[in-house]
Amino acid sequence: MSERTAAERREELVSLYHQVGACRKCPLGSLRTNPVFGMGNADADLMFVGEAPGAEEDRQALPFVGRAGKLLDELLGEIGMERRRDAWVCNVLKCRPPGNRDPQPDEIESCRPYLERQIQLIEPRVICTLGNFATKLLTGSPTGITRVRGRPQEREVAGVSVLLYPLFHPAAALRTPAVLQQLRDDFSGIPELLEQERAAAQPPELAAAAAAAALPAEPPQLDLLG
Ligand code: URA
Repeated sequence: MSERTAAERREELVSLYHQVGACRKCPLGSLRTNPVFGMGNADADLMFVGEAPGAEEDRQALPFVGRAGKLLDELLGEIGMERRRDAWVCNVLKCRPPGNRDPQPDEIESCRPYLERQIQLIEPRVICTLGNFATKLLTGSPTGITRVRGRPQEREVAGVSVLLYPLFHPAAALRTPAVLQQLRDDFSGIPELLEQERAAAQPPELAAAAAAAALPAEPPQLDLLG
């Protein structure tokens, strides 16, 4: 955890929001209707990173507000979570590529510092990368989502130690029922990963006390002879 207070981090996040709004580092800044900075709880332990805003996101200036976003909210609901309370949601690109085409390498590079700064300010413990673009960017590996989905990876991203948890993009799950089932299965692992990361981040005395409290008073009998 950084030494900054929550209020200081929030203030920096607001300043970053204004920088993104004024950004013209790539042509998308002049083509979009609105920048889509991100939304949710800036103190959350959980972050979702998608690909880029679509038409509805561009109109509302909010991430994941179309069909894929509805599915994201539904899957979060199934694990007892709610995006505004429990997560920060954003994208690799902050501006919509025309016609929803794929993000280009130069656009990803131009936008990357904004995502990295969001990670430094929010300091999530678990980042779910949704789909290939977010996964390849944050893992730093060209391995595609089909091979890495559902497998957590400890990584240092922009100087922050995080657990990356690559997941299929919800838009892909809307197209293919088998992908939806896999995404749902992978979502069910999120609460445990969060617990694990929170426990690992506890100071050693607290972790030892928590472990002792979880131990049974008497060691269980090992009835080896049946
Ligand atoms: N798809 C994304 O990757 N991001 C959004 O915000 C919406 C759809």
